[in-house]
Amino acid sequence: MSKPLEGIKIIDFTHVQAGPACTQLLAWFGADVIKVERPGAGDVTRSQLRDIPGVDALYFTMLNSNKRSLTLDTKKPEGKEILTKLIKESDVLVENFGPGALDRMGFTWEHIKELNPGMIVASVKGFSDGHHYEDLKVYENVAQCAGGAASTTGFDDGPPTVSAAALGDSNTGMHLAIGILTALRARDTTGKGQKVAVSMQDSVLNLCRVKLRDQQRLDRVGYLEEYPQYPHGTFSDVVPRGGNAGGGGQPGWVLKCKGWETDPNAYIYFTIQGHAWAPICKALGKEEWIDDPAYMTAGARQDKIFAIFGTIEDWLKDKTKFEAVDILRKFDIPCSPVLSMKEIAADPSLRASGTIAEVEHKERGTYLTVGSPIKFSDMKVDIKGSPLLGEHTDEVLESLGYSSKDIAALHEKQVV
Ligand code: COA
Repeated sequence: MSKPLEGIKIIDFTHVQAGPACTQLLAWFGADVIKVERPGAGDVTRSQLRDIPGVDALYFTMLNSNKRSLTLDTKKPEGKEILTKLIKESDVLVENFGPGALDRMGFTWEHIKELNPGMIVASVKGFSDGHHYEDLKVYENVAQCAGGAASTTGFDDGPPTVSAAALGDSNTGMHLAIGILTALRARDTTGKGQKVAVSMQDSVLNLCRVKLRDQQRLDRVGYLEEYPQYPHGTFSDVVPRGGNAGGGGQPGWVLKCKGWETDPNAYIYFTIQGHAWAPICKALGKEEWIDDPAYMTAGARQDKIFAIFGTIEDWLKDKTKFEAVDILRKFDIPCSPVLSMKEIAADPSLRASGTIAEVEHKERGTYLTVGSPIKFSDMKVDIKGSPLLGEHTDEVLESLGYSSKDIAALHEKQVV
């Protein structure tokens, strides 16, 4: 089955997580992604947090599937020559080096444009061009702090908290992939490439837009009724950390189920959606609340919302999280068990859909990865193992016209 991005050649100058997540997605959808790595070392994640000595770490294998690997020292003249040839015949160059690194290598946007006017150069940086922090190098948690996620995550009596979700890294990569596809679409009509830039701060903020909504509401009315601080607590002039409160119009909280004393994930998330109030009361056996003016509207419930959650926890105490959800789903109540990574890894539905994929790797055997979260009716996404360091160096050089003697000399001089 052919893939929509077949024929698109991508020079993948990315490392760690933000850039690799982007190019991996494009590789899944058919692009020829050539990962360019420093000879001898490669992407730092190959050796970070290794679980098997001497074998590429899961950090690398889970972010670089379906790619080819070319080792190339782009600071050596011969390396620059090879990169120049590659640029001339590629469609996209993706990078997430520290600020200015590509320019220092001699490959400014102006130069790349001269070499190939159709080239799309896509970059991830911590902060956007012209930002007062544009010179900063940035990792995930730095971005979460700069993008408004940390100040609004956690509990009111605790410090700013980062999320385990890669809001700064993989999320930025997904934004970049959208930018690249948009630029490719534009090139179809103009024939011209362009620069696509995404900052980690902006990508985090894009996911925190409801918190900027809340800041403006707070400025105007002085309180936020869906936060646990309302109505009994106090608000300052900044959006507080809301714990596990639902971010929208319906209150919700993480509630204890049977076994919570020993199992750290024996909880469900329970949402009190307004129109589901009657079914909730029926599910809990509290039918008297349905028409009670003290309970029947969201406004009436607000000042006793934690007492209501307490009643629900009482109902949950002899039910596992799975049993509870099986009952509540019959009443059309939005809820979910809090799933551990162990449970997710074994989840038959996630396996069947390909969201959890078991992949072969030449040196580590099989491993689990997260497959495409995007499903297509006319395309099956096959996840392949990640490449070994330099596995495709010779074949890429041959395709650029280098003879086996030239290639041997380039290896000898440690250019590749
Ligand atoms: N051949 C020769 N040199 C290479 C090379 C290659 N194939 N690949 C990279 N390099 C060089 C770069 O040219 C750069 O050299 P210079 O600084 O002397 O000009 C050097 O390696 C270091 O690159 P840099 O990206 O700055 O690495 P770092 O380890 O110091 O910083 C980050 C890592 C992630 C903090 C930084 O890359 C960054 O801020 N990136 C942008 C934001 C981002 O993506 N963050 C990570 C999200 S997971």
